[in-house]
Amino acid sequence: MRPFAALVLAGLVMVIISVVPRDATASAAGLLGPGQPVAPEEMLMLWHDRAYGQLKLAILKKKAQRGVEQAWLLAELANANQGHNNDPRYKAFAASLSKLAADAAGALQDEKFDPAKDLLRQMDQQCTACHDQFRNDDDAKTQQGD
Ligand code: HEC
Repeated sequence: MRPFAALVLAGLVMVIISVVPRDATASAAGLLGPGQPVAPEEMLMLWHDRAYGQLKLAILKKKAQRGVEQAWLLAELANANQGHNNDPRYKAFAASLSKLAADAAGALQDEKFDPAKDLLRQMDQQCTACHDQFRNDDDAKTQQGD
């Protein structure tokens, strides 16, 4: 490379470095990181419902690959759901659901349908437990005195 071209290139790189905000990568990572959902909670729950339903169907019909896909989808949705509430109990229900769904993906990968069925039941318990404590209508019931 000719010295002049090298100088221009170096100057260009320095301009780019000074123009790009230093925390650009950090803030992008924060926005897209685990526990930082971008979609509203209702939307996340609609997808929970669909993924769970499709997972159940795949297990009943013994469609392993389809089940693996839906189980991972649910695992990721539940992972993201942790960011919707700062209450540690809420995060624990969501984390537990995510773990169970990931385990189900593993079981289905090996075409183990009975263990997957058992995991499905345990997932359902997490849905119910979290809804019992955190769904708005239940909140309304417990706050009647206000
Ligand atoms: C960690 C907590 C948590 C878990 C786990 C959870 N949900 Fe929810 N879900 C909520 C909350 C909170 C709402 C209420 C949202 C609102 O009222 O804005 C909700 C609402 C819903 C709704 C909306 C309709 C309704 O009846 O109110 C559906 C459907 C739903 N969840 C399905 C599921 C399914 C299926 C699972 C399990 C696979 C699940 N959820 C697991 C917290 C959770």
